[in-house]
Amino acid sequence: MPAPTTPLTPAPSPRGDFLLFSCQGGAESALTLRQAEVLPGFTRGAWRRGAMTFRIGPDGFDPPDDFFPDLVFARAAVRSLGQVTGDSARACAAGVRRLVADTAWDNVHVWARDPRSDLPVALVREMVAEACGLLSLPDPVARPGDLVLDCVLDSAERWWVGWHRAATPASTWPGGLYPGSLGDDKVSRAWLKLGEALATFEVTLEPGERAIELGAAPGGACLRLLEAGLDVIGVDAALVDERVARHPRFAQWRMRAREVQLRRFKGCDWLLADMNIDPTSTMAALARIVVEGRGRPKGIIATLKLPDWSRAVAITGWLAEIRSWGYEPRARQLSTGGREICVVAMRARRVVSLPRRRAIRRPGA
Ligand SMILES: C[S@@+](CC[C@H](N)C(=O)[O-])C[C@H]1O[C@@H](n2cnc3c(N)ncnc32)[C@H](O)[C@@H]1O
Repeated sequence: MPAPTTPLTPAPSPRGDFLLFSCQGGAESALTLRQAEVLPGFTRGAWRRGAMTFRIGPDGFDPPDDFFPDLVFARAAVRSLGQVTGDSARACAAGVRRLVADTAWDNVHVWARDPRSDLPVALVREMVAEACGLLSLPDPVARPGDLVLDCVLDSAERWWVGWHRAATPASTWPGGLYPGSLGDDKVSRAWLKLGEALATFEVTLEPGERAIELGAAPGGACLRLLEAGLDVIGVDAALVDERVARHPRFAQWRMRAREVQLRRFKGCDWLLADMNIDPTSTMAALARIVVEGRGRPKGIIATLKLPDWSRAVAITGWLAEIRSWGYEPRARQLSTGGREICVVAMRARRVVSLPRRRAIRRPGA
């Protein structure tokens, strides 16, 4: 059991014995794999697509406020207070009020367990806020430190209720869902994904820095980097979109990652990777640059695609490998991404001795 990493907060009354995690639909088995590894004292309770509960254990363990980042696949972590049922939203909202008694809430987060459903999330939020005594409806994005009442809509007639204390950026977003949206001019979804990665891990890009992205086409992430004022190089055999290609601070190396001479990575501040290849090949491509080539970017932002969910067993090993390069990795399955994880790794202040230089040749990269 890892030690809690943030100060603990007193629980409002009544207090739940179960934690409810929401995750991407389909990611439940991956979440369970991570839970068995990082929270082995917990036992699994209910399991539905997009939501799972675990009984808190062992006795006396007080869950931290940092949303269990080691679980990677948990979008939101809620201390369960129980469920309410009713034949109308108003009846359910009254049930929530009975469940939470007189706790003074700072915010209310409402989301549907299955985001494809058309449940009236905004209306429910208004009703619950009114029933629970919030004088005015705050912005759905909470402030750090806020005590948040959570309602996960399983169906129109059944809601799960709980609470959390907002701490990390993702814990300020209802259901841990990144509130950004994708404009038509942003080239690809990767523009939004990179926005979520930067916000989640609180990474700041500085104008004038140099970024290289492996797997850059069609160019959404490169566009986001250009908008932040960086000089950007996209590595991809496929062409990037015109809007990116003609930008004066953009250049493309039209080749595969492994074909780029290592010396060309010198002076790179940010190394990004978003290649649709096996995660071991992405890891090999990064290691080739950082270990074999001794390129020392200040940060790595990498997408590791999971061909299937069972590959989640390898995450601890991947993070350990990145640590051995002298970086501090953190990982999360972004709410705007698919079956993949995002790893952000900042160069460690005290550089550990690097693994011996060796030729890293694995297929694909
Ligand atoms: C998911 S797309 C990348 C999206 C892109 N990051 C964006 O912002 O729009 C995956 C890309 O990886 C590229 N790719 C696959 N294998 C690669 C390799 N070995 N080296 C470089 N690029 C590769 C593909 O050509 C494809 O364009």
